[in-house]
Amino acid sequence: MPREVRISVIYYSATGTVADIAREIAETAEKNGAETRLRRVEGTVPAPDVPLATADDLLWADGVLLGSPTRFGNVSGQLKTFLDTLGDAWRGGLLADKVYSAFTSTSSRHGGQESTLLALTTSFHHFGGIVVAPGYTSPEKFADGNPYGTAHCTEGRTRPVDDTTRAAARVQAERVVRFARATRLA
Ligand SMILES: Cc1cc2nc3c(=O)[nH]c(=O)nc-3n(C[C@H](O)[C@H](O)[C@H](O)COP(=O)(O)O)c2cc1C
Repeated sequence: MPREVRISVIYYSATGTVADIAREIAETAEKNGAETRLRRVEGTVPAPDVPLATADDLLWADGVLLGSPTRFGNVSGQLKTFLDTLGDAWRGGLLADKVYSAFTSTSSRHGGQESTLLALTTSFHHFGGIVVAPGYTSPEKFADGNPYGTAHCTEGRTRPVDDTTRAAARVQAERVVRFARATRLA
């Protein structure tokens, strides 16, 4: 019997929005049969049941989903600092041939969701990753409207993560599990 597909969900979150999306993604990956790790990076809002991420969480995984709040239209420094610890793994070719996908949240509607998701995609290319975008592949994605990844807008912290965003997160998680399962080499 081949081992089950492995998915790591790694995020930074200061006020809980990205953490909520991360949990939805991790639960969906698990429901879709994946062995799943949910991990936060240093500085994230306390979550005693979520361990801190290490390089091994990427090495272990067949598929990796990275989440960050949008900061000035870009990836948060905290998640970027974690990515910048991965030099040795990258140099050894250990980040390649995995499926990658990204998610984010903003305060404003045009606050830079796409630029943050595309910035994360840039790193995925450097890793030699297989980028799996959700696209407009299901009705849920037409409702959420962001083909680059799950993205929630809090409208100045007045809108917690809602059903539309959760449905988009589930589509993305299911898709990553499916492609990680189909493309994994060992
Ligand atoms: C330093 C800083 C920069 C931010 N930049 C943006 C931005 O460019 N666009 C935006 O819509 N929201 C911006 N925000 C708001 C956060 O993106 C928003 O609060 C975040 O999505 C909440 O995620 P979290 O609850 O997971 O921390 C910024 C917040 C901070 C603290």
